[in-house]
Amino acid sequence: MTLKILKFPTGFLWGAATSAYQIEGGLVNDWSEWEKSPKRVKKLKAQGLNPADFQSGLAADSWNRFEEDLACLKKINASAYRFSIDWSRVEPEEARFDEGTLNHYSTMVARLREENIEPFVTIWHWPIPLWLRDKGGFEAKKIIFYFTRFAERVALALPTVKFWLTINEPTVYTGDSYFRGIWPTQKRNIFAYLKVLNNLAKVHKATYALLKKINPDCQVGIASSHMYFEAGPGIINKFAKTCADWWQNNHFLDQIKEQQDFIGLNFYLHVLLNYGFKDKNKKTSDLGWELSPSAIYNMVMYLNERYHKPIYITENGLADAKDTYRTWYIEEALIGLHKAISEGADVRGYLHWSLIDNFEWTHGYSGKFGLFSVDRKTFIRTPRPSALVYAEICKNNELKIEN
Ligand code: BGC
Repeated sequence: MTLKILKFPTGFLWGAATSAYQIEGGLVNDWSEWEKSPKRVKKLKAQGLNPADFQSGLAADSWNRFEEDLACLKKINASAYRFSIDWSRVEPEEARFDEGTLNHYSTMVARLREENIEPFVTIWHWPIPLWLRDKGGFEAKKIIFYFTRFAERVALALPTVKFWLTINEPTVYTGDSYFRGIWPTQKRNIFAYLKVLNNLAKVHKATYALLKKINPDCQVGIASSHMYFEAGPGIINKFAKTCADWWQNNHFLDQIKEQQDFIGLNFYLHVLLNYGFKDKNKKTSDLGWELSPSAIYNMVMYLNERYHKPIYITENGLADAKDTYRTWYIEEALIGLHKAISEGADVRGYLHWSLIDNFEWTHGYSGKFGLFSVDRKTFIRTPRPSALVYAEICKNNELKIEN
């Protein structure tokens, strides 16, 4: 057996990612209200499910336990941490900004800096304040004004942040909230869907300009969800790939390509397009998602060729309560990234999703994505075995593989 060492470039950033609604707890916004709506509660009960397991509630109590999250980051030897700002906490009523909240986020950034952990701050990761919901959310006429007013307060409160992600996964948000209608606002309306997509592109562009004005040295992007589509044999599969790529991978990034300094790649899925036949014999996560971590190589090469931008992996991971596959998954993904880097892709960091178990949207608390498990009653964070393997990788800036 030989040992192979895959060294990553000097300065490569290692860490993990989270989002406010999924970990902070105690939030009041369009999602929290929707989760408690009688219609949703009734539906869950009819499926024999406990509605409380599908309400974020206290989440991982991270609002009160940031130091514990920081201890987790230190345990994995992280050099970067992606987290998000909750809009409803910052601006609970229109134009009333909560200084205490802004101070809290500013303390988080300062503590990260003290520990030499680079903050990657997502300005908006999905839920919106109730006042904005009542004005039509991202369909509102003045949404660019509302968003940039909020973003400006955040940016001024966090002047040392170098890496900003304006919005998280615009295509997923619009798809689930306005096209499939399974998330608030449950619209299922093609016109609203297109309008919101368009508004999100405008919001990003305006926020990009704003952030650059405040700090010309900062780096701005979005966290973008991409799927690697592999075409089976024949022209029909190839055509399906072209369409799927355009829709899932290109059309949003194409619109904002002049306004992004880097691509934040959220990568989870590989999809085989083969006349509707599925890939057989693939491992799956607790949520039933096919696990093809090495396809991150193809995804990165695809994005590199099309956009020629630095790439940070801003999410990559799996729901795996028993930690059966997580170590294998991380290693396979890193082998893929290393290969992409050796072939010229400018990948500069890897942020695993997620640091800790959290509230997985409509799956509630059933999807355990954490490197650390979180006890639902005591909130105690415990490293899963994969976290310790990952910690060694982060510490040494290299992956050791036996073959
Ligand atoms: C989202 C996360 C989510 C993860 C796993 C991404 O689409 O940004 O909030 O938890 O996927 O589903």
